[in-house]
Amino acid sequence: MNTTDPKDRNPQRIAVLAGDGIGRDVTAEATKVLEVVKSRWNLPLELVPLPWDADRYLETGESLPEGALEDLRDNYAAIFIGAYGDPRVPDMKHAADILLGIRFGLDLYINFRPIKLYDEALCPLKGKTVADIDFVVFRENTEGAYVGVGGNFKVGTPDEIAVQEELHTRHGVERILRAAFDWAVAHGKSRVCMSDKSNIMRYAGDLWQRCFDEVSADYPAIEAQHWFVDALAMQLVRKPEQFEVIVTNNMFGDIITDLGAALQGGLGVAASANIHPGRVSMFEPVHGSAPKHAGSGRANPLGAVVSAALMLDQLGHAEAALEVEQAVVASIRAGRTTQDLGGPDTTEQVGDYLVEHLCGSAEK
Ligand code: NAD
Ligand code: IPM
Ligand code: MN
Repeated sequence: MNTTDPKDRNPQRIAVLAGDGIGRDVTAEATKVLEVVKSRWNLPLELVPLPWDADRYLETGESLPEGALEDLRDNYAAIFIGAYGDPRVPDMKHAADILLGIRFGLDLYINFRPIKLYDEALCPLKGKTVADIDFVVFRENTEGAYVGVGGNFKVGTPDEIAVQEELHTRHGVERILRAAFDWAVAHGKSRVCMSDKSNIMRYAGDLWQRCFDEVSADYPAIEAQHWFVDALAMQLVRKPEQFEVIVTNNMFGDIITDLGAALQGGLGVAASANIHPGRVSMFEPVHGSAPKHAGSGRANPLGAVVSAALMLDQLGHAEAALEVEQAVVASIRAGRTTQDLGGPDTTEQVGDYLVEHLCGSAEK
């Protein structure tokens, strides 16, 4: 096992898994942006496309190849994913093997999802400014309802039974809570909100509540907030400005970050990072493969590009990351966007605009 911190590997090899549907369209643009950033800032990045997708799975029966996780762990600095999901694979087998396989297999326990409004014209809420919608979600990423524990019985009969278990460990809950508080301290935030459903899901809720009490006591300068997740959904629409950092379980984090994406202008803008500090991390837009839009030029590449910026930052290229984010903001302010944001451009034209902007700003 290679114990070098992935960001110190040279070159910084990035596994690029475009995936299915619009995953390919947005990854093409994120890759274009990364290649420009690499040459303008002379970064030691090496993009390595890996052809793991639905087509390959349908042809060969293989989703994540044997030894792939070890290879990613030892020989890459980061992983970039477009999106997975194909109607020809209705049980999502390849997507689960690859996406959840990487999240779980590399123990990427932090699903970091920033919710940031880049321009108030994109917000569906009345009277909200960019200052009002700027928070991050720490979604637990290796436990909860996603562990695939359960079973079924008497399938296809009127007596059919399905059991889908949730799993929460003391270790898993504590480490995501600490990650959220540590991030709050490091970024000058004053509040962390934990969200659960402890009023009704007593066993898991009790564990999350006790861990939250204990962990928050170690951070006396940070205000500990709590909302039940149903009330949180309402508060996110009613008064999103009250949130700085939200920490929650895997399933609730999945749901509230789609809600959060809507506050930013839609799924096309939302970005995420799957992190285990000191190990190889994985970056992906929040949206899925939207098969009906694949290859149409309608896919918004900005969520993928902001995910690439999160990756640059994680790899130690903060200045380049900031410039990429600024190029995204510029494209939105200039109206150079895809239709979902009200603009006239195709996926590729948005990518071209970002490249031009980056070249211009790099020359200053
Ligand atoms: P989706 O995110 O693919 O699309 C939902 C809708 O949101 C689209 O029809 C489109 O109107 C809009 N949208 C999403 N991304 C967009 C973009 N970049 N630009 C413009 N509009 C965009 O969600 P879905 O339809 O529920 O799922 C489709 C497939 O993707 C399913 O197989 C699902 O399981 C999978 N999925 C994968 C991921 C992932 O790979 N991380 C995430 C979510 C869903
Ligand atoms: C996401 C997606 C995934 C999830 C699916 C595709 C497994 O919705 O990344 O938000 O539920 O985590
Ligand atoms: Mn989701």
